[in-house]
Amino acid sequence: MISRIVYYVVFPLYVVFVVYSSITLGKDLNEAMLISLGLLLIVSMFSDIRFPKQVTLFSVLQFLILFSFHYVSQLNWCYSLYIILLSKVLYPIKKVSIAIFVGAMSMLLYTGARLSYMDVTKYNYLAVVSDFLTSLAVVFIIQYIVKTEREKNQLIEQIERESSFYQSEKLKVIGELAAGMAHEIRNPLTTIKGFLQLSKSQNYNIKPWYELLSDEVERMTELTGEFLEFSKPRITCYQVSSMHECLQKVISLTESEARILRHQLQYSEYSPDLHVYMDADKMVQVFVNLIKNALEAMTEPGKVTIRLYNSKGWVHVVLTDTGKGIRPADLKKIFDPFFTTKQTGTGLGLSISLKIIQDHGGKLEVSSTEGQGTSFMIRLPLRTREVIEAT
Ligand SMILES: Nc1ncnc2c1ncn2[C@@H]1O[C@H](COP(=O)(O)OP(=O)(O)O)[C@@H](O)[C@H]1O
Ligand SMILES: [Mg+2]
Repeated sequence: MISRIVYYVVFPLYVVFVVYSSITLGKDLNEAMLISLGLLLIVSMFSDIRFPKQVTLFSVLQFLILFSFHYVSQLNWCYSLYIILLSKVLYPIKKVSIAIFVGAMSMLLYTGARLSYMDVTKYNYLAVVSDFLTSLAVVFIIQYIVKTEREKNQLIEQIERESSFYQSEKLKVIGELAAGMAHEIRNPLTTIKGFLQLSKSQNYNIKPWYELLSDEVERMTELTGEFLEFSKPRITCYQVSSMHECLQKVISLTESEARILRHQLQYSEYSPDLHVYMDADKMVQVFVNLIKNALEAMTEPGKVTIRLYNSKGWVHVVLTDTGKGIRPADLKKIFDPFFTTKQTGTGLGLSISLKIIQDHGGKLEVSSTEGQGTSFMIRLPLRTREVIEAT
């Protein structure tokens, strides 16, 4: 701001002052030429804003105009104009050696013009040395100011860049989360829809499923709450819980949909007292995702088998379907967010499930044969009885 005032207000005023002084003192070599050069100098100060790329060549031209102006005005006072122009030209120059060179060149022009109208005396020779030293000091001071200002600007730019980067990252996360939420809400909605359809045959009596329905509504409320409280991380509710109870809940939730699609859910092979340190709601979400995928993969009436057992300190849950299977080329991609082969799929179910299992210190693996079916195996660390009692 201050530099702009100096370049675009002080500088032109100073040129006018020199023109006026030179003419009134009768020093000028040619009045018309002095006025023309003065005007040219002022115009040049304004016009280079539009040619930033040609600034170097333009600066040389500006110095030559100033030199001619100085020569015609025959006044020492032009010194200030050299200093102002120098400060402007030095601004984009980063290298000190180049800055000193530019400073020396401008002083050479000044001295050249000055000596044309001064007597060659000892005093004037010393004055030349003094001018040179002054210009050197000016170069260093300007370099220092410019450097500080440049660093400040770079810092501001960096902060702005970073904050806009974080902003777009945050938007991306919110977008992904929104899609994920929509997907997660759709699962309980289908369950509710299934029960409502089922209740038709019971004279719209929903009493037998009331608990389940209200649980589902509760889960949706929780999910939407989680979404709204996006900025605050959700306190996940980890507890040592029975995997068998968890799977029973999953089955009661998916049963109606399976029945509508004429598929069978089989859960007969299980060890009843296997416990896992888990967020039971999230775990339900994982199994519902997997069972829904299995149901959707079976075009003919088929069967989904769920097995629960313990092996080497790990709780295993294996879900096997008799669906169309997964193409070997797709096997690597199914856990990628948004990968889907379904027309109305979101491709988020498996990526969310994988994340939940990993958060629980577990593993989620898949094996599939095209045309025969798919198996998803979940392994989670087993909690022994002693640990359960201690917690
Ligand atoms: N049991 C399965 N049988 C066959 N393909 C499956 C099975 N589970 C998942 N897939 C494949 O993995 C893809 C990704 O699944 P998912 O992440 O749940 O998203 P979506 O169900 O929305 O497509 C599905 O589109 C499907 O191609
Ligand atoms: Mg799915």
